[in-house]
Amino acid sequence: IIDINMGCPAKKVCNKAAGSALLKDEVLVREILQAVVAAVNVPVTLKIRTGWDRENKNGIAVAKIAEDAGIVALAVHGRTRADLYMGEAEYDTIAAIKQAVSIPVLANGDIDSPQKAKAVLAATGADGLLIGRAAQGRPWIFREIEHYLRTGEQLPAPSLLEVERILLEHLAALHAFYGDVMGVRIARKHVSWYLATLPGAREFRAQFNRLDSTDAQCTNVREFFSERHNNGEGVAA
Ligand SMILES: Cc1cc2nc3c(=O)[nH]c(=O)nc-3n(C[C@H](O)[C@H](O)[C@H](O)COP(=O)(O)O)c2cc1C
Repeated sequence: IIDINMGCPAKKVCNKAAGSALLKDEVLVREILQAVVAAVNVPVTLKIRTGWDRENKNGIAVAKIAEDAGIVALAVHGRTRADLYMGEAEYDTIAAIKQAVSIPVLANGDIDSPQKAKAVLAATGADGLLIGRAAQGRPWIFREIEHYLRTGEQLPAPSLLEVERILLEHLAALHAFYGDVMGVRIARKHVSWYLATLPGAREFRAQFNRLDSTDAQCTNVREFFSERHNNGEGVAA
């Protein structure tokens, strides 16, 4: 697929009339979407916010433009550009957008637990959810949500052994994908997210962030967990 991003609030992006700044210019939105859909033979999807600011909440209008232009699925972050990441995501506008179009609508913003996922699906009628920050260092949130929606029951937290296995796999994938230099840098924030809730994480992070080779990072993470396994710590927070 090609997923077009009209959700990014960053200044350096919006100053160039890209990202969520595009929401201000519905004519340009239509032209871009039509041009992309016409130019490729893969599905094109779109991510938007609910509008530019609270006075210009044109999410519904943009959603209709998207549907007309042949966009096949729409993700909506329940904040305006002006809201940045402040306050609570509001799901009413996502619900109104869902009502206004017949393409699949995916709700996004502040979903951080299985219970919240269920509540947002109910409040918006959305066809699916997108989860950003709550998945950082916690990729098992997806199976937790899937399980809860299916059974109404909450899965136990992953064991420390499983967290170690997933983190090492993720680390190897980051190194392979980004290469030895960028991979090592990008891994620092991910490792820090995984370990954030574990005792001793702060001290570990300080020395982990000074390591500059892929091997040293893997060894170091193994050591962190091996100390905890030996202490009999079983379950991650
Ligand atoms: C570090 C960071 C980078 C992001 N980059 C983008 C981006 O490039 N494009 C975009 O549409 N949204 C971007 N987002 C927004 C997220 O995709 C998502 O819409 C937002 O964080 C709300 O969802 P959440 O509460 O589940 O995190 C970014 C968010 C964060 C925290």
